[in-house]
Amino acid sequence: MDCFTLSLPLFLLALSAVSAGAVSGINQNRKLGESRPRRDLLDNGLGWTPQMGNPLESFGIISRGDRIYNHFPTQLNEELIRQTADAMVSTGLAALGYEYINLDDRWAELNRDSQGNLVPNATRFPSGIEALADYVHSKGLKIGIYGDAGTLTCAKTMPGSLGYEEQDANTFASYTKMSKALLATGRPIFFSLCEWGQANPATWAPSIGNSWRTTGDIKDTWGSMISKADQNDEWASYAGPGGWNDPDMLEVGNGNMTTEEYRCHFSLWSLAKAPLILGCDLRSMDNDTFELVSNKEVIAVNQDELGIQGKKVNQTGDLEVWSGPLSGNRVAVVLINRGLSTATVTAEWSNIGLKSSVSSMLHSTVTSIQYQLNATLDSHACKMYVLTPQ
Ligand SMILES: *[C@@H]1O[C@H](CO)[C@@H](O)[C@H](O)[C@H]1NC(C)=O
Ligand SMILES: *[C@@H]1O[C@H](CO)[C@@H](O)[C@H](O)[C@H]1NC(C)=O
Ligand SMILES: *[C@@H]1O[C@H](CO)[C@@H](O)[C@H](O)[C@H]1NC(C)=O
Ligand SMILES: *[C@@H]1O[C@H](CO)[C@@H](O)[C@H](O)[C@H]1NC(C)=O
Ligand SMILES: *[C@@H]1O[C@H](CO)[C@@H](O)[C@H](O)[C@H]1NC(C)=O
Repeated sequence: MDCFTLSLPLFLLALSAVSAGAVSGINQNRKLGESRPRRDLLDNGLGWTPQMGNPLESFGIISRGDRIYNHFPTQLNEELIRQTADAMVSTGLAALGYEYINLDDRWAELNRDSQGNLVPNATRFPSGIEALADYVHSKGLKIGIYGDAGTLTCAKTMPGSLGYEEQDANTFASYTKMSKALLATGRPIFFSLCEWGQANPATWAPSIGNSWRTTGDIKDTWGSMISKADQNDEWASYAGPGGWNDPDMLEVGNGNMTTEEYRCHFSLWSLAKAPLILGCDLRSMDNDTFELVSNKEVIAVNQDELGIQGKKVNQTGDLEVWSGPLSGNRVAVVLINRGLSTATVTAEWSNIGLKSSVSSMLHSTVTSIQYQLNATLDSHACKMYVLTPQ
């Protein structure tokens, strides 16, 4: 998630949905993950696959000055969240698995109430957070709440949780009766940490979080995006069912990269089992953006039950091969051209851990190919394949 000021660690708490569906969702996730043992991770039953959703930071920080993500001047408030929840459903993204609507920094007042509870900003949320959470849950979605481990959050406009950890956990959990009940039975709070990867969180966060940031904040530029992918790649071995490396949200659709660059962004995040958190305005997504983020085959790579983060396996100058195993002995491959001119990128079977001849299954054309896979790619373009050994 976003945090501009390098101050104190922060984290995001996302409550599970309060519908009965959420309970079966958790069970379903457990079932999916069973093919691969969960490591010594935060045992709250969540995060068997990377989370998918929408952060509302893009709106919340629009007035922060030098960090403008989006080109629409919208303030974080309840109307925006309702409209975003509506759009998540009406666009069909919810049906594809995008389920978290996250309230970022600035949702609360600067001061706690006399009992020490966090108080939602009444100007932004005149109907209260509980009513808003009910609305989001009524759409079959889950609401995420932002908090901070320090004394103030990053924007310094609301209190952090230092000294109030249990009380705030209760506040977050008490927004709906059902989520409280879920908390008591299954501890269903998805816990996502952000300290911008400064203290190598992949090495310690798996026991306390379902995902952890491995990088600083992403910007809507090719250079920023690709460098976050590289930094996140270094921690690949720490990711697995229950806990994921998070190279920050998706900038896809925010307008400052080309469609091919956004395709690389979405493909690399999917392959790396990164949380798929859409950073664009869902209410006004263009067709190119929708097509990228709604690609079922690419989402399936991200949500694959094996839960192994794909890695960069070969680099020849600006030409790279990224790859990782999928369930069913399949292999996902991303060929990417980071250079400025058109070039052919080759994946050798030896690089991607394959021995036999395989058939390419992506886009329903079954082609039998052996030894290597080639793609001629424009500058900053990529192609993704799923290979099934014959
Ligand atoms: C509460 O929301 C209003 C309206 O967006 C804003 O002007 C004010 O600064 C907010 N208060 C805090 C403490 O963030
Ligand atoms: C847009 O991308 C260009 C090229 O990477 C970069 O120089 C510029 O700062 C970006 N603009 C914004 C608003 O992010
Ligand atoms: C988006 O696609 C729809 C049909 O899928 C089409 O009617 C509409 O004109 C397209 N919009 C743009 C901006 O291309
Ligand atoms: C990367 O691939 C190229 C050609 O496809 C090959 O010559 C090179 O040995 C590979 N590098 C590694 C480290 O495997
Ligand atoms: C892939 O490209 C290399 C070099 O450009 C070429 O030698 C090889 O025959 C190509 N392989 C396939 C399967 O097209």
